[in-house]
Amino acid sequence: MVTTDELDFPKNLCVLGIETSCDETAVAMLKDGEIVGEKVIFQNDLHADFGGVVPELASRQHARAISDAISQTMEQSNEKGPERTVDAVAVTYGPGLAGSLMVGVSAAKALSVAWEVPLVGVDHMEGHLFAGTLFTSIKLPSLTLLVSGGHSQLISVQAPGVYEYLGGTLDDAAGEAFDKVARLLGLRFPGGPEIERLSQLGDATKITFPRGLKGNSLDMSFSGLKTSVLRYLERCPSAKAEDVAAAFQEAAVDSLVDKVSLALKKDRYRSVVIGGGVAANTLLRSKVEILCRKAEVDAVIPPKYLCTDNGAMIAAVGAFRLHAGFVSPLDLSINPSLSLV
Ligand code: KG4
Ligand code: ZN
Repeated sequence: MVTTDELDFPKNLCVLGIETSCDETAVAMLKDGEIVGEKVIFQNDLHADFGGVVPELASRQHARAISDAISQTMEQSNEKGPERTVDAVAVTYGPGLAGSLMVGVSAAKALSVAWEVPLVGVDHMEGHLFAGTLFTSIKLPSLTLLVSGGHSQLISVQAPGVYEYLGGTLDDAAGEAFDKVARLLGLRFPGGPEIERLSQLGDATKITFPRGLKGNSLDMSFSGLKTSVLRYLERCPSAKAEDVAAAFQEAAVDSLVDKVSLALKKDRYRSVVIGGGVAANTLLRSKVEILCRKAEVDAVIPPKYLCTDNGAMIAAVGAFRLHAGFVSPLDLSINPSLSLV
């Protein structure tokens, strides 16, 4: 049951979700609120040598992988439950890389026509916002921290589907900062998991990096932090990479948690949700949990595999939107700069 004081999606629908906005070809089937089939085909090795996602390579790889991702998801779904009609095909139509988005949207349109079911275009960031609903309903009003490779935003969810932008990064996204600092340290792309792994061997107290924007604003900044890591490495070339990684991670996480804490002081919320790839970071997860315990609000921290890009979060938004009467036209265009708020 979807209520107005909770963010959730209807559990009586069967929706296929397709996500190809960046470098993961991800498909999932949601049936009766459960993920009954899913496949994520990663492109990490393809982009590793370039230190970031190469759009042309990404879209070609999506085109090669999409039918496998769909057919493996369909096979899994049928194994787990009785054959049933799919209610809708949901697909990310923005924001993201144009060529990559086009592959997912074209596949979704083809399935929508073949199966004679509605097509539901989904905002990728709304997907991250809904990832938490795949394992719990979210008490509203809710404060959501969305932190990915392209975005860092604080969003207030006052009612289902009603979002207010509270603040965000003025320069690099948090994930982008992890990726760039990883590159400075000679680590592979994507940098977030690599920094996290290396940090476990380091001492964060050996170096102090700046904690982003101070003051009463909910905006954030990560480019100064990245530059101070660069300057530090120039000054101290023999510094232990483990310590630099740990000190950077601590500063980046503190910058985010400070803003969540400030937002909780400014307004009343019943829950804090984190989403996006950086939300898979163990230090961020534990610091958000501690903050929420002190502030006496629910901490909604999705399992790590639901923080990075996946098809299930797109299917969840698809179910929510379909239930609200929203269906996309078959000539749905991609929108690489789509903005949720
Ligand atoms: O949401 P996502 O999978 O894709 C985008 O929508 O961008 O996020 C990818 C970003 C990358 O920048 C990656 O380095 C970062 O999330 N990331 C992490 C971790 N896992 C992924 N950052 C910090 N710690 C992690 N464990
Ligand atoms: Zn994402």
